[in-house]
Amino acid sequence: MKKRFNDWKNERSKYFNSWTNKQKEDTFFDLDKSEDNSTNSMLINVPKKNIREIKRQNNKKRKKDSFKNKQNKLNYAIELVNVTKKYISGKNDVTNVLIDLNLSIEKGDFVILFGKSGSGKSTLLNIMSGLDRPTKGHVIVADTNLPYLSNKELTKFRRNNIGFIFQQYHLLNNISGYENVETGAILNKDKKNKNDIVSMFQEFDLLDVIDKYPSQMSGGQQQRISIMRALAKNADIIFADEPTGALDKKTSKIVMELLRKINVEQFKTIIMVSHDPDIVKYAKRKILLNKGKIILDERIAE
Ligand SMILES: Nc1ncnc2c1ncn2[C@@H]1O[C@H](COP(=O)(O)OP(=O)(O)OP(=O)(O)O)[C@@H](O)[C@H]1O
Ligand SMILES: [Mg+2]
Repeated sequence: MKKRFNDWKNERSKYFNSWTNKQKEDTFFDLDKSEDNSTNSMLINVPKKNIREIKRQNNKKRKKDSFKNKQNKLNYAIELVNVTKKYISGKNDVTNVLIDLNLSIEKGDFVILFGKSGSGKSTLLNIMSGLDRPTKGHVIVADTNLPYLSNKELTKFRRNNIGFIFQQYHLLNNISGYENVETGAILNKDKKNKNDIVSMFQEFDLLDVIDKYPSQMSGGQQQRISIMRALAKNADIIFADEPTGALDKKTSKIVMELLRKINVEQFKTIIMVSHDPDIVKYAKRKILLNKGKIILDERIAE
């Protein structure tokens, strides 16, 4: 594990021999601020025929073609090729939420997605995690081209490959902390590798809430339980949409340190959405979205 961490540190230092960390941080957030404040997505009126086609692409599995069995490149967990997402609102109105997006994420990376409200961060996360379908393009995750799966197959894919952490925790309220984590372990595809839940509570410093219900826990405790649930599943890829959005600074730090730890020690690929500039240092790569496009993509200095 230590070797892996050192390899990663060496690799990162290659990217940052010219700029200081501070300069890079400033550039990143200045770019974010410098964008105009108009609405992020474009609303356009399109003919009925096209609406029907978009609806089909957004909701149904794609017909089999030569791309169906496309797998990831070596060492990559996620690859997006020309991904476009259009939402239909009203009768004939279409919003272009993601526009011809290309993105490759290596196994073991820790990526933070930034961008103003409405820039398409959650949409992108949902498409990468198989919760939503792209209108066009390829989404290859864990050697599977997702748009070609049926809804049932997508559910199975998520169950076997993906862990989720949400801003509002999404714990089950009428069962204990232990049982909430256990729901993750039950979904674990490889029973032999099922993590020992009690030792996880110990490691996360949460033994005192193991038998409590979520309503009896603080926000930070609930979020840590939801991280444990994702870990208990043993999924290789973890998606988190603003996991610290409802937490104070101190608790955010604890949660981010845990995510960083599982990224480095367990080599989990983590993709998270955030608004908070303070947490960027925990990740390895930051991506800035604006109006459905990636306008910046950088490795993060230590
Ligand atoms: N189901 C939907 N139907 C129609 N439009 C949608 C749908 N989901 C999202 N949108 C639109 O897509 C755009 C991007 O939304 P998204 O939720 O991805 O933004 P975000 O970057 O996550 O914003 P926030 O920071 O506020 O969470 C917005 O204009 C939103 O209104
Ligand atoms: Mg969002």
